[in-house]
Amino acid sequence: MTRKRVAVLISGRGSNMAALIEAAKAEDYPAEIALVLSNRPDAGGLAHARAANIVTAVVEHKGHGKNREAFERTLAAVIDEHRIDLVCLAGFMRILTPWFVTRWEGRLINIHPALLPAFKGLDTHQRALAAASKTHGATVHFVVPEMDSGPIIVQGSVPVHDGDTAETLAARVLTVEHRIYPIALRLVAEGRARLVDGRCLIDGAPSTHGILIASEI
Ligand code: GRF
Repeated sequence: MTRKRVAVLISGRGSNMAALIEAAKAEDYPAEIALVLSNRPDAGGLAHARAANIVTAVVEHKGHGKNREAFERTLAAVIDEHRIDLVCLAGFMRILTPWFVTRWEGRLINIHPALLPAFKGLDTHQRALAAASKTHGATVHFVVPEMDSGPIIVQGSVPVHDGDTAETLAARVLTVEHRIYPIALRLVAEGRARLVDGRCLIDGAPSTHGILIASEI
């Protein structure tokens, strides 16, 4: 088995990155985390990655002013240098331009803390509570130019409890994020989940909502 070389892009604490690193320790996992890249030098996840002996790099968006594409060209050069096959966004807080997204089409995935298409964008937990949602969760999807709109690979749902705050709900969703991201990366790395004509095919069959993993806790 040739393992796919994966870059994980982070901006913060990197708990999803850590879940991917952990999953990739298994001998039969079809991907290896070959690079952790952050746009912030102070991202907490960088120390974790270094401690796990993973190559890290920082490409600061700051120095590039308002020129998103110049930032992304530097990012792309670093990714290319490490012969990366797949890119995982894991709390990477930069909106990517169509140039970058198109370049990585079908090989770029993201995790979003909501059951898409509900609650695109920020503050998803607060918004789920305000909407009195009974179920909430997270989604791993292929990235397309429109934000949080790409074809879904895997979703994980959790119940919303009475008395939940955005924090307690976020913590419950995070546990399911850590379960579904490694599953989704496995499917993509094995070629079982593919982006074809704007749809996600799983084992060759079109899948509108991806695979759903429901957690009762
Ligand atoms: C996660 O909730 C993820 O869904 C969102 O940003 C957060 C990142 O957390 N995109 P972490 O850095 O992986 O801990």
